[in-house]
Formats: sequence, structure tokens, C-alpha cells
Amino acid sequence: MKKYFILYLLTTLAFTCFAKEKTKMIRQGNAEVELFNNDWKFYRYGLQADGNRIEEPQNLSGTDLNDSNWRKLTLPHDFGIEGPFRMDLAGNTGRLPFQGIGWYRKSFKLSKEDAGKQIYIDFDGVMAYAEVWLNEQYIGGWPYGYNSFRLDLTPFIKSDAENVLAVRTNTEKWDSRWYPGAGIYRNVWLVKTGKTHVAHWGTFITTTDITDQSAQINLEIEIENNQETAVKAKVVTDIFEINANDLFGKKVLSFENEDIQLVAHTSGKISQSKKITNYKKWDIESPNRYVAQTRIIVDGKTDDCYYTPFGIRTIEFSRNGFFLNGRKIEIKGVCNHHDLGALGAAFNKSALIRQIEIMQKMGCNSIRTSHNPPAPELLELADKMGILIMDEAFDAWAKGKREWDYNKLYDEWHEKDLKALVFRDRNHPSVFVWSIGNEVMEQRNVEMTKHLVDIVKSMDKTRPVTNGYNDPDGGRESGASTALDIMGVNYFFQQQAKWDADERYKNKPTVGTETSSCVSTRGVYYFDGGIRKDFQISSYDVDHPGWGCTPDKQFATNAEYPHLLGEYVWTGFDYLGEPTPFNSDNTNLLNFRTNPSKKAELEKKLEELKRLQPPSRSSYFGIVDLAGFPKDRYYIYQAHWRPELPMVHILPHWNWPDRTGKTVPVHVYTSGTEAELFVNNKSYGRKVKKEGKDFRLVWDNVVYEPGTVKVIAYKKGKVWAKDEIQTTTEASKITSISDKQIISNNGYEYAFITVRIEDKSGNLVPTANHKLKIDVTGCGELVATDNGDPTSFVPFQSNQREAFNGLALAIVKAKTGEKGNIKIKVDSPGLKPAQIQIRSK
Ligand code: GAL
Repeated sequence: MKKYFILYLLTTLAFTCFAKEKTKMIRQGNAEVELFNNDWKFYRYGLQADGNRIEEPQNLSGTDLNDSNWRKLTLPHDFGIEGPFRMDLAGNTGRLPFQGIGWYRKSFKLSKEDAGKQIYIDFDGVMAYAEVWLNEQYIGGWPYGYNSFRLDLTPFIKSDAENVLAVRTNTEKWDSRWYPGAGIYRNVWLVKTGKTHVAHWGTFITTTDITDQSAQINLEIEIENNQETAVKAKVVTDIFEINANDLFGKKVLSFENEDIQLVAHTSGKISQSKKITNYKKWDIESPNRYVAQTRIIVDGKTDDCYYTPFGIRTIEFSRNGFFLNGRKIEIKGVCNHHDLGALGAAFNKSALIRQIEIMQKMGCNSIRTSHNPPAPELLELADKMGILIMDEAFDAWAKGKREWDYNKLYDEWHEKDLKALVFRDRNHPSVFVWSIGNEVMEQRNVEMTKHLVDIVKSMDKTRPVTNGYNDPDGGRESGASTALDIMGVNYFFQQQAKWDADERYKNKPTVGTETSSCVSTRGVYYFDGGIRKDFQISSYDVDHPGWGCTPDKQFATNAEYPHLLGEYVWTGFDYLGEPTPFNSDNTNLLNFRTNPSKKAELEKKLEELKRLQPPSRSSYFGIVDLAGFPKDRYYIYQAHWRPELPMVHILPHWNWPDRTGKTVPVHVYTSGTEAELFVNNKSYGRKVKKEGKDFRLVWDNVVYEPGTVKVIAYKKGKVWAKDEIQTTTEASKITSISDKQIISNNGYEYAFITVRIEDKSGNLVPTANHKLKIDVTGCGELVATDNGDPTSFVPFQSNQREAFNGLALAIVKAKTGEKGNIKIKVDSPGLKPAQIQIRSK
């Protein structure tokens, strides 16, 4: 079956550029590209998952090395997520054994047609300190695990024999404030071009003079000549419409053909401009894209074809706000780390699509890629799905927050790393702000700030640059922030009024690069204070660390300073690591080293926490839990961010057998303006939100009695939305719901199956934690399971896990190349099992 898949890829490639059939773009860049993820072998050396060591032998890149006992696998691969969780490992990195040395080997042959071509390998991201050999020759590497890089295989590749590629990754001396992953955790691509071709990330498209009728498209194309002789190449660029499936639509513009002369082994640039009329703008509401197809023709033959997808839109930032295509847009953003929950750092597109969809449904319109360059697919998806991206480079500059942090790389690599990020991402319409850092230790440093901003500007002057400050007063006082286009404030808006009056800053657009940091566990409610010793946090959404605030408080701040561009909530999703306040390590202390009083306060707290030995391994910050299930907080954001959507949400659940006759406060999130609450049809009265001040309605005096809680929300005096919850009877059955009925058999598309424990009437039993067994048979296999419990040490790969507050998640994929039914059965003693079927094609 694999053979057919390869055949399919080759046919697709053959059609690309040259055929009349609809062209499908595989990705931005040189058109002859294929995934290079299959048939790798892996061995872990150095630190092992159990804490022992296996010394790394010499010459693991050798072509005649016997690797028959190495594990076969398909990339992307994260060896840290394989676990096990260990109490002796740090909470901030998820108590997962990500530190070790990973070796990957792959043998491959080129086809006859490839002789004489340039052959490149593109790594989207390797954690960390990647070193690569081809046929025993060292060909290069990239230490910063989040950046994408290309290596040239041409000098050492054999066109008529087996080639051996070897990659060494090293996370033994890499540390992080969150879970970084380990190994070749993003996609790898093989790229083939003629000898004269568009350089890696060699195009830059900007759009100017944009009106509703027309826009100027400006192209900059860098062309590389790898011939031993000088060449004259013809550069031909056409612009097509392109849809969300990357299929080309109609041709809308052609640039004049242009010749370029290049001497042997040099590169050169051409610049062209042309006006487009009757075009469609890219917008978050209508993400229309175009693609520039550039062909390099030498002696009448197409040597290379290169795709640059782009969009035409205007962005403006001022003290009056952020304007997209002239329309004021409040940034309703979230910060997200790169891990994908149970999948760890191993990239998967369907997992990311799911994340973005969940965020958009909440009303979120922007993601900050905290605190590092994301997988390139995030930008592709953001372009297609209409979401704005703050693209962030670093969490540390020359001074680290951990011993083995970016500090070890800064001097030699910061320029290369920033360039890699900006060159790769500067054609994406979704990317609207660059961020040079997050709470870096040198945030008051004027020269460093200016230096990094200048590097970004040397590659892209069309987007503003920001930096996220946890010492916004110090940053502004020192003058460092004057180098930025946008002031990024993490949490501390206390002095905002003062800076608004300061000559240097009064016209500076300002955004909450990080806000709230509210903490909660899905489905957990406490009535005697939020944080308890079972290491869960109440979901009344009132708890946050010292530097944070409730969502409500931040909404009020935003209302108080309407010129703020908006906010990026910490965080959209729970992530592996940093289980504040149960870190029991110094993660957050280090963040706040710049604030002495905070440091002392935290030091004391963390000392107490250390003694508790918390088992927590993932965060509580997410609006959505690690398994992708919304917490209550989701609905306070939805209510505020989507005021036009009629909705109302009640919390807590209504199963409190021990509290009959005692009070159970009820909170309601609604996009309406007022609401009336009923318990068993008895009204607890109407409550009205004060505009700009109240963002939830609270009934503190509700006396618990089993039954039904109902809320009717009103807007402008009319009924706007209703919600009802009830005390359930005992758990009787399991229900499973798949987010997809059909998945591709390419091995990459995953189905996300929500498992619910229900009573006989189909109500979710909100306290159910039954042990589940998940069996996948037929043409599919189980990838991972989760339940969103930040303290669970059950391996993500296990097919047995408990439900957590009524829910669990199973991630399923099709067996590669197999077509047919996939059966998913979920069992638990005493409950009626669930059996569903999806199909692979
Ligand atoms: C911020 C930091 C984030 C995260 C957050 C938790 O200071 O930038 O990475 O640690 O605190 O509240």
C-alpha cells in the first residue's frame, strides 16, 4: 500500500506546475517536495526514560552500522512523551523524561530522474541541537529546537545507490519552563530542484497601495545558481487563486517574464511590481488567498517551480486600535505552547486544526506562539482559517531563565534564528506582529532591544515588532520600549495611566501580550477556597497566581483603557509542564526575578509547595483542558468575545448529595445583559450586569436541593438564551462521539473521540471517574488517550484510563494505506459499553 502512496505523491508532483489539471500545492516553497517521514530507525542513548544511561557509541552515522535492532518509526516523533511520568522529574517540564540523546537513521534511494538535481532536506523542527550526516559526511545542523532549517544533500548524495542519513538530537543540555519535547518532532521534507532555482524561503511578497478596487503586488525573488557555469535564467511568475484545500483556481495575474544572469555558484534577486484589480481581500472573516507560482526556466526547460501563498490585506496599529482592512478589531487572543496534549510535541495537523476550531468557536481571533517559532503548519492553517498570529521568537536572550536555556545559543545564533523565523513566515497574511521575546531578563536593555528589532526590520518592514514585558514599567522607564512598534504588557497594567501620559509612550499602541493566568481544573468545584491539597483547582474561575487576575478583572481593565489593542490570555489550552501553583520548582520565581517583592512572596509559597510533593504534570492555566474539553472559563470568554451569539452557561454541576440544605453558589456566563435563575422552578431573582464592570452573574445564596437549575438570559428586555442542568441519576452507560466519520488512511489524519459517562437519560455524570478500556479494531489504531486531569500519571499511550469528571478522550488513526471500518469500543465494568464505527479512506 505504501507503494501506492508514494506513486500518488510522485504523480501529484509530476502534475505540479506543468499540467493543465488543477494544481495542488503541497506546501510553500519549491514545488517538487515530498514528506520524508517514513521508514526511520531510532535509538535512544545517553539518559534513558528510567533515569539510567546508555553510553553513546562512536560512529552512529556510519553507513555500514548494523541498526537492525533500532526501532522503526514514522516521524514526527517525540521520545519524551513516551514517558513514563516520574515524580523525580521536574513539574515544569511535565515530569517527563525528555532529556536524552536521540539517534535517527534512514536509508533511501533516489530515482533515475533525480540524477543531476539539487536535493535538499527540510526539517520543520528538531528538539534540540540537531546534527545531520549524509553517507557519513557531516552536513550541518541547527541547535534551537523550534526553528525550521534546510540542509543541502547534493554534495554527498549518491544517485545510483543507497544513501544513509543520520540525525543526532540532544536534549541532555536543554531545559525549559514548559515541556519542550525531544527528537525529530515535526515534519521532514525532501526537496528536489534543478540546478538553478528559487532560494530557500527566497521569495517575499508585499502588497501596497491597497484600495477596495486594486492593490500593488510586489515580488522579490532570490534565485540561486548551482551550476559550474554562468546561466541566464528566465523568471516567470503567475498569480492564481488558491482554495483552502490548496487547489489552484483561476489565474488572475501574470508578471512580465524577466531574465537574470548568474555566474557560477552565486545568487541574485529580482524585484517586480504589478497591479491587481477586482481582487479579494484576506480577512479573518474571509480568508481569501492567492499563490504566486514562479518558474525558473533555463535553456527552455523548467528548472524549478516555487509556490508562495499570500493574502492581500491592510494592517494598521495606532493608539486608536488595531485595524484590519480598515475595520477596528479587538484582539481576542490566546497564548498557546506548542505541545498537543497527549501527543506531546509530535506535530499533527488534525490536532492543531481541532485546537484552532475550538478557539475560534470561543471567539478567539489571534494566537501568540508563546514563546518560540511554531510548526509551519500553524501559519498555513491560520491563513486558511482566518486567525491572526503573533509570531514569537524567544523566551530568553543572552541571560537564561534556566541554566540550559537559549542563553547558551544567543551570541552565535540569535541573528540566524530570527532570520529563519522571519524569512519563513513573512509571506503569511495571518502573521501580523513579530515578537522578539517574552519576559527576557534584558527587557530594560535599550541596545539589545533595538538590535533585535533592527534585525527583524531588515527582513520585513511591513509588520510591527513587540516584546512581552513582565516589567513594563522598567522597560518603559529605561527607554527600551521606544524601539518597539507595539508595547507588550504581561499582566501589569497598574501604571498604564502614567505611561499613557508619558511623551515617549502616549502614542504607542499597547497590547496585553499575556493576561489573566487564571487557574482551574475542569469540573472541580470547591466551596472553601479554590486551591486544595488534592492538587486540583476550583473551576469557579477566581484563582490566579499573584501576578495574574480573573478574566473579569482583565475585561474591566480593557474597558478602562479602550486604546489597548486587546489581550492574549495565558493560555488557550492547558499544556504539559508548568503546573502552577503545584510546580514545586522555581519556574515562576525565575520569571519574576525583576520584581523583588514578588520574588520573596513566591519563594515562600514555593517552599511550602515543595514539601507537598505535588504529582502535577500539566498546567491549570488553560481555558480548555489538556484533552481539549472546555472548562467553564471557555464560556466567560465566549460570552464576552461573541456578544452576538445567544448563549448562557451555568456552573457548577448539580450533583452535590452531601450539600443538601447548604449553599452552593451559582455563577452564570452569558452574552445577554441579565438573567433569572430557577432551582426546581423557584426563582432566585434576576441579576443585571453593569456594563464594563460585571462579566458574570453570581447567586451566592442558592441552597442546594437535587433537581433542576435553569437560567433564562435576557438582552434588551427580550429572552436571549436558556440553559438547564440537573442532578443526574447514577452512571449507566458510555457514549462515544467522533469528530470525524471518515479519516484519510495517510496515517496523519486523526479522529478525536469524546467518551462520556452518562446516566440513563443521557446526562453527563459530572463526577464519574470510571475505569475505561478502549479497544480499536479493524483498519484503525489507537494513538493516545487523555482525560484532562493534570495529576494523572497514566501514560498517554495506554488504552486504559479513568474518566475524569465524566469525560475522556481517545485519539484514533487509520492504519496506513488501509481502507475500511474502524471500530472503537469503550468498556467499563457495570456500564453499558459504547461502540462506534468510523471509516478510513
Ligand atoms: C508568565 C510567562 C509565561 C507563564 C506565565 C504563567 O510570566 O511569560 O510563560 O510562565 O507567566 O502565569
